[in-house]
Amino acid sequence: MEVIIAGGPAEIGTLAADAISALLHRKPDAVLGLATGSSPLAIYDELVTRCAAGQISFSQVRGFTLDEYVGLPAEHPERYRNVIDNVFVSRVDFAPGAVQGPDGLAADIPAACTAYEEAIRAAGGIDLQILGIGTDGHIGFNEPGSSLASRTRIKTLTAQTRSDNARFFDDDIDAVPTHCLTQGLATILDARHVVLVATGRQKAEAVHHLVEGAVSAMWPASVLQHHPHVTVLLDDAAARRLQLADYYRETHRSKPDWQGI
Ligand code: F6R
Repeated sequence: MEVIIAGGPAEIGTLAADAISALLHRKPDAVLGLATGSSPLAIYDELVTRCAAGQISFSQVRGFTLDEYVGLPAEHPERYRNVIDNVFVSRVDFAPGAVQGPDGLAADIPAACTAYEEAIRAAGGIDLQILGIGTDGHIGFNEPGSSLASRTRIKTLTAQTRSDNARFFDDDIDAVPTHCLTQGLATILDARHVVLVATGRQKAEAVHHLVEGAVSAMWPASVLQHHPHVTVLLDDAAARRLQLADYYRETHRSKPDWQGI
């Protein structure tokens, strides 16, 4: 696991966009895993800028979102399918239908989850997965207690996650859905490169468990310690509980330019 303590969102956006740009030059029909929430916004903004400048294209790229609320009406602005369209997909040159998400309105939820796993497999798997992390250590919506071997399925959101996400629902926790569909932890581990972004002091405990804690279903993101290629992009506030912070800074400073993330 590579930990980079960056200067702030702009540097995080640049580092992640550099990795995605290199991937697209190497493999124009790459498959991206797309997180929603606040954390990846700087990455999406940087990718939009590069696409507008003609430096990269998403015309052959396919995308899979991580998760979706269950039961939000199709036109609801916080439905993750709509969120990802607004913040990223509609701002670049994806082909129509190139980005899919789990169907939170499916009549047969288990069948929809199985179909989603199958669609990811049929696309050849995810080359680069963008992740945020919840204050309770979730990735996707794999809440504490999630099986480390889980696949796409329905989950109940914790009170903490619903409270954290109430800011997207006019601060009304009752408006935040109680259930979601999410890629499982094993689904996420199948991605070839995982780039996780965390900023702000409220993420420091979860980041501590992710990077330096024991691997445990109580802190689901810690399962990423088993993945061979994870890049964790942090600001100072999110890194404040890391015991080896000075080592991570020194490693990044002295890293050969050719190496990338
Ligand atoms: C969103 C997702 C979640 C968020 C996490 C952090 O698709 O899967 O795991 O990444 O809740 O959210 P933000 O970035 O809003 O703090």
